[in-house]
Amino acid sequence: MDTTNPSSPPMLWSLAWQLLGKAAESGDGALATPSISTVASLQVARPRVVVLRKADDQNCVLTCYTDRRSVKVDHLNKGSEFSWLGWDREASVQFVGGGPTTWASEAEHRKIFAQLPKHSRKAYATVSPPGSPLPDAGTGLPSRWEDMDEAETDYALANFGILKTRLRWAEVLKLDREGNTRLAANRSDGDEWSFQYIVP
Ligand SMILES: Cc1cc2nc3c(=O)[nH]c(=O)nc-3n(C[C@H](O)[C@H](O)[C@H](O)COP(=O)(O)O)c2cc1C
Repeated sequence: MDTTNPSSPPMLWSLAWQLLGKAAESGDGALATPSISTVASLQVARPRVVVLRKADDQNCVLTCYTDRRSVKVDHLNKGSEFSWLGWDREASVQFVGGGPTTWASEAEHRKIFAQLPKHSRKAYATVSPPGSPLPDAGTGLPSRWEDMDEAETDYALANFGILKTRLRWAEVLKLDREGNTRLAANRSDGDEWSFQYIVP
């Protein structure tokens, strides 16, 4: 069935965004912690799990937070896109999609960081960048972290990054005993999505 440029998006598309939105808001279910892959070379894709912070169904933008010093950012700086992968077990829906990924505004960074309690700042507060070697198993946080009050952890703002992927392609796969269905979506040329059901 060819659904290219329908007047309204296919139901599977609406369902996927409903699930993504719910996952981002509630933090519940596997779709709330999707994986993101980047590439540094044509041969090696590097996946990692992140927390889905926002799923903007109007603009089809997915948001996560990260440490600006992490490998994924290095990959972005080298031209990689983000490819997201998530699975909602209850709904039997897999979502994959990707596109160019950019930073939120400086003002948004400041606003969101200011709302983070001390324990949530840990991920951005390590002394050395994520992935740096340690002499022993450890958190990488400053040795007096436990004694620091929240204001003293403000330095982590410099490492705190909000990344937004404006999807330019996506696929939704719905598993069903009666028969699986798979929808491909594309908007490489602009804002308008085209949809195409494909063989699962
Ligand atoms: C459940 C879970 C949630 C995570 N959430 C995030 C996240 O929101 N942002 C992030 O940068 N890393 C998150 N991580 C850690 C990443 O998976 C990864 O180890 C880290 O970002 C370093 O990745 P990189 O070196 O490939 O950039 C999470 C890991 C787990 C297991």
